[in-house]
This record gives sequence, structure tokens and C-alpha cells, in this order.
Amino acid sequence: MSKSWPGLVTHYRDRLRLSPHAPAITLLEGNTPLIPAPKVAERLGGDCEVFLKYEGLNPTGSFKDRGMTAAISQAVADGARAVICASTGNTAASAAAYAVRAGLECMVLIPDGKIALGKLAGAIAYGAKVIAISGSFDDGLRMVREVADRTQIALVNSVNPARLEGQKTAAWEVCEQLGRSPDWLCLPVGNAGNISAYWLGFTECGDCSCGSKPQLLGAQAAGSAPIVTGIRVDNPETRATAIRIGNPARWQQALTAIEESKGTILSVTDEEIFSAYHFLARKEGVFCEPSSAAGVAGLIKSVDAGRVVVKDKRIVCVLTGHGLKDPDSAVADAPEPTRIEANLDALMRVIDA
Ligand code: F0G
Repeated sequence: MSKSWPGLVTHYRDRLRLSPHAPAITLLEGNTPLIPAPKVAERLGGDCEVFLKYEGLNPTGSFKDRGMTAAISQAVADGARAVICASTGNTAASAAAYAVRAGLECMVLIPDGKIALGKLAGAIAYGAKVIAISGSFDDGLRMVREVADRTQIALVNSVNPARLEGQKTAAWEVCEQLGRSPDWLCLPVGNAGNISAYWLGFTECGDCSCGSKPQLLGAQAAGSAPIVTGIRVDNPETRATAIRIGNPARWQQALTAIEESKGTILSVTDEEIFSAYHFLARKEGVFCEPSSAAGVAGLIKSVDAGRVVVKDKRIVCVLTGHGLKDPDSAVADAPEPTRIEANLDALMRVIDA
């Protein structure tokens, strides 16, 4: 039997810029599957290979656990007593869980009424102090940055460099799993930490002998697409609430990543996001949260428009969060279950219908 997975801080320790004495605060995150997606490949025309990096299988159900194991480990090394973040939901749940693991207090600011139920449930279950603000994620981030400047409370949003150290490991895993770097890597973009982290990872992929890097394809929701339009959005809107962000903290770094990779960033409508979301669940059997499907939506849109040519290419789409994070989106617009009396006749009538 192979040695069991120790979590990514321990596994990649010598390649991460963390304090050498930082303990590994871990829930054994990382090491997520790269699932072939033949139906998506077929939808793109057939002569390419597509894989889904299913980050929803991390311990709290999203890719945030990669950055959080690193950020909380570093916070402990720095002597922090408490951590704080602003969040559209996943960062909050992740911070809350890793804070428990480290014995730290955790406070999370969320936009009131604009986070998916499974994320709120996580933050509450892990015992964080949940503060709902009458504002956007961007307002919350501004507030927690000021708190971190004035107090000893550690900020664990992706403006914290340790977060990117953890998240960049996903790029290395993808290369290890494919045996080389993909040609394209597609992902949703909100605060732009993840796209920046992937690029950091690919540029530091020293151990991998492929010698090449992917082109990055970032997708923003049309109502929250500041990087695409070049204009900050004061009132961002989208049903993909995880990426409802109008002023990304790592905006410039994302632009650099896209430019250096000769990639692209585009906006996708909520209709396109939900169409990709349903496609993944119903055709591939992979259930992600709506925002996670934005990368796939962006890929399909770019290929349909002739902006991206995928013939003979290997493409990885990052599915950032699990579908169960957002049960309301899953059942919205869906038909009610067929209700019957609990007897065989009634069941046979439904089966035969
Ligand atoms: N996908 C999901 C499921 C997310 O939760 C996020 C960000 C993103 C994509 C975008 O990643 O911000 O690094 O560009 N969620 C943050 C949060 C903002 O608070 O959970 P990004």
C-alpha cells in the first residue's frame, strides 16, 4: 500500500514559502481527482481531451482548503490568536474549519443574503462568528483589511501570500496527474486569487519535466466582470454568488497571468453558467456549484466563437466547489419530484408512463 497522503503543506513543504517552524494545520486537503470529461470534449467537437479537476472534494467542499491550510499554518507560526476574512461563502467555511483545527477564533464577514446555504451551514457548524453585512464582498474585504491593519487578527483572504502558496499546489498536481502540463487551464475568476495562484504554480513547476505551461482561460460572470471590461463594478450581480465580486484584490496579477500565458479572460452570462452546470451534472455525473461551471462555460463559448482552437489539445477545467454547497440552485427551476402513494400499483403507473 502506498504511504497515506499527509496533506499538502507536509507533502510540498520544501517548495512552499512558509515559515520553517510553521506547524502543518491540516484536514488532509489536496490530492483531488482529475476526472476525464468525454462529453465536454464531444461538445467541443471531439478531437481534444478534457479533464475536470474536482476541487469540490476537498475537506470543506472547495479549493479554498488548499490556501487555508497554508494560511492558518502560517498564522499559528506568527502567533495569531484569531483570524478574519470576508467571503462569498467558501473562504468562510474553510477558514472556520482550519481555525478550529488550530484552536484559533474565527470571524467571517459575508454579504447578507447572498451566500449559498451549504457555505453558511459550514461556517456555522464549525463555530465561526458569522457577521452578515449589508454590502458586497468588496465592502467586506475593505473592512477586514482595515481590521487586520489595526489589530493582531490575521487576515486569511487571498491577499495573504500564504493563501497563494497553498493554492499553487493544484497546478503541480495537475501536471503530475497528466504527466505534463495541459494546453489550456480554464477556471472561474472572482477575487482573482486562484488564477494568480495557478500561474505561480505553473511558473514554479520545476519538478515537472514537461517544460511548458498552459494558456489560462478565466471566466467572470457577466454582471461581475471588472477584469474583462476594465471597469470596477460597484454593484456586482450574478446568480453564481461565489464570484459576485466587483473589485478583485488580485486584478493586476490576474492580468499578468493571462498575458504571460497568452491566455484569455471573458465574461459568461448566468444562462451560460447554468447551462454548463447542468451539462456537467447530467452528462458527466459531476456535480459542482454554479460558479465552478463558469470555466467550462467560458471554454464552450470561446470554442463556439472560434476564439480558442482545441484540436488535439489537452484541457483542464477546474471545478472549484462542490454542488452540495448550493442546494437552492440545484432545485431551483427543477420539476418537483413525482409524488405517489406508497403502493406498487402507483409505482408501476409511474414506471410505465
Ligand atoms: N469558485 C468558487 C466556488 C469560489 O468560491 C470562488 C471564490 C471562486 C471560484 C473564485 O476564486 O476569488 O480566487 O478568483 N470565492 C471567494 C470566497 C471569494 O469568499 O469564498 P478567486
